[in-house]
Amino acid sequence: MWTPSRRQLCLVFLLVCGLSVISLFLHLHQDLFRKVLHFSILCPDHHLLRSPVTIVCLPSPLPAANVSPSCPQHLAQPSGTWTISPDGRFGNQMGQYATLLALAQLNGRRAFILPSMHATLAPVFRISLPVLAHEVDDHTPWRHLELHDWMSEEYSRLKDPFLKLSGFPCSWTFFHHLREQIRSEFTLHDHLREEAQHLLSQLRLGHSRGRPRTFVGVHVRRGDYLHVMPNRWKGVVGDRAYLQQAMDWFRARHEAPIFVVTSNGMKWCWDNIDTSQGDVVFAGNGQEGTPGKDFALLTQCNHTIMTIGTFGFWAAYLAGGDTVYLANFTLPDSEFLKIFRPKAAFLPEWVGINADLSPVQD
Ligand SMILES: *[C@@H]1O[C@H](CO)[C@@H](O)[C@H](O)[C@H]1NC(C)=O
Ligand SMILES: *[C@@H]1O[C@H](CO)[C@@H](O)[C@H](O)[C@H]1NC(C)=O
Repeated sequence: MWTPSRRQLCLVFLLVCGLSVISLFLHLHQDLFRKVLHFSILCPDHHLLRSPVTIVCLPSPLPAANVSPSCPQHLAQPSGTWTISPDGRFGNQMGQYATLLALAQLNGRRAFILPSMHATLAPVFRISLPVLAHEVDDHTPWRHLELHDWMSEEYSRLKDPFLKLSGFPCSWTFFHHLREQIRSEFTLHDHLREEAQHLLSQLRLGHSRGRPRTFVGVHVRRGDYLHVMPNRWKGVVGDRAYLQQAMDWFRARHEAPIFVVTSNGMKWCWDNIDTSQGDVVFAGNGQEGTPGKDFALLTQCNHTIMTIGTFGFWAAYLAGGDTVYLANFTLPDSEFLKIFRPKAAFLPEWVGINADLSPVQD
């Protein structure tokens, strides 16, 4: 049997040592090389992070069916910078977002939102419009345009490269041709949708032993509107009789609906909504702090009863089922009708129930 001599063992030992050193050297070197590589790759990223314009995702081009030879500008890449001043709360800002998106697309311009709009909407929706940093906002030579709350011809011929819109647009006449895109912009984050679905599924089991049920989201706008409507606009908010009629409308058309009530005045709802039929659930937690939860719940319902306000409009628009709304809720000579056109606010297929104006008629 061959046994290695001391000299041979020594040689093998040296060889192993040598190889280890070489491999260690290569390893270190490679690491160094990788670091340099990483650094150079990171540089442009770093630059992008610091650059004032965050480009997340541009709105997709108009669907092919909408592109006709008569509007060749739609085929070109969008250019310029358009934005809208965020104003008001959740529902208002949804209206501003959707209107900005639609008008920019119509005019071949790029739409950006300002950081406070992002802060309002992004916690709830998977919105995609990029955010314009304050520095860019401050240094852009904006032309300002205050929008009224319905689409008009002049809005389809805006040439400005730098345009800052303002106002409280919340009319389907701006964006209904993009309904699918708007719905996708206002897709709920998973945790909100799942939470709402979980709540609804418990209601279903509780009431009907597993049979599918119809959910009607009820949004009762109260809060500041209790003063604003009568004092400023000669109008009313949804009252007890309206809610009763609206619920009866659904009871007459759907088998055993469940009414899921959300409001920024839950106490009033408890005291005033008729629960004798056992089909009413007070589920809202008031929208002032966390509008997302109530909003998610309403959009996961099949149908909607709105009262007044943009929050209810959006819940109904996104839920997409039957909608009952409060109609003619101001006196005919109200200043409100100068800024609000019912025909541009409510979809033609929605069902209006006239308000009782007697509280403001004396
Ligand atoms: C009604 O809404 C529930 C909850 O979102 C849903 O599971 C069900 O499929 C809806 N029903 C119909 C007919 O769309
Ligand atoms: C609201 O009032 C107008 C004018 O009187 C009327 O034409 C309309 O039908 C009313 N709306 C509803 C839903 O009844």
